[in-house]
Amino acid sequence: KVADLKGLKQGRLRLAVITTAKYFIPRLLGPFCQRYPGIDISLQVTNHEYILGRLSENLDDLYIMSQLPENQETCYKPVQENPLVVIARVDHPLAQEKNIPLKRIAQETFIMREPGSGTRKAVQKLFDHHQISPKVRLDLGSNEAIKQAIAGGLGISILSRHTLILEGVNSELVVLDVEHFPIERYWYAVYPRSKQLSIVAGTFLDYLLSSEPLICQK
Ligand code: PGA
Repeated sequence: KVADLKGLKQGRLRLAVITTAKYFIPRLLGPFCQRYPGIDISLQVTNHEYILGRLSENLDDLYIMSQLPENQETCYKPVQENPLVVIARVDHPLAQEKNIPLKRIAQETFIMREPGSGTRKAVQKLFDHHQISPKVRLDLGSNEAIKQAIAGGLGISILSRHTLILEGVNSELVVLDVEHFPIERYWYAVYPRSKQLSIVAGTFLDYLLSSEPLICQK
């Protein structure tokens, strides 16, 4: 592209990110766009399975995901931690307990992300490993809707800790202290190995990797 040859930092950056990265990427775009006023951005936010589809069709410049694709060669860099935690309503009977056994949690009613979600896959893997099947009452395709359902008393769930980033001291939600949690994961910046990053995408990747780690303790 002509803009790349001239080394000008301008053009369109196409990003596609998993749902939890929406607690992180849009916020970074403010300072990025201020620094590079010639770069326009399109940002797709969707679940793991749809990101895999977009990646295999080569629809975007850069992807953020937590599980790398198995059947496609990629270049990737870890960007930030993305731990999964057990979330309940603040008045839940287990809220004050320490080191709650996984088996005990499995007796609770669960709200689970939809099939195709990376969060769900990671949770399923942990339960399968311990040969436990949780009682899933509701599948929901949105982290925010799940938080509302927890607050409404429908059950507990396992979500990225980043979903709690805007919860203040008066939050209706708490993180339960459950054995084997948090499930440790990372957000990775990913692109197909066969693809040469444009100057714009490379600039964003450098920016992403130099950004401060997110502090999100709950
Ligand atoms: P998901 O991915 O939106 O597919 O659940 C989120 C994550 O893996 O953090």
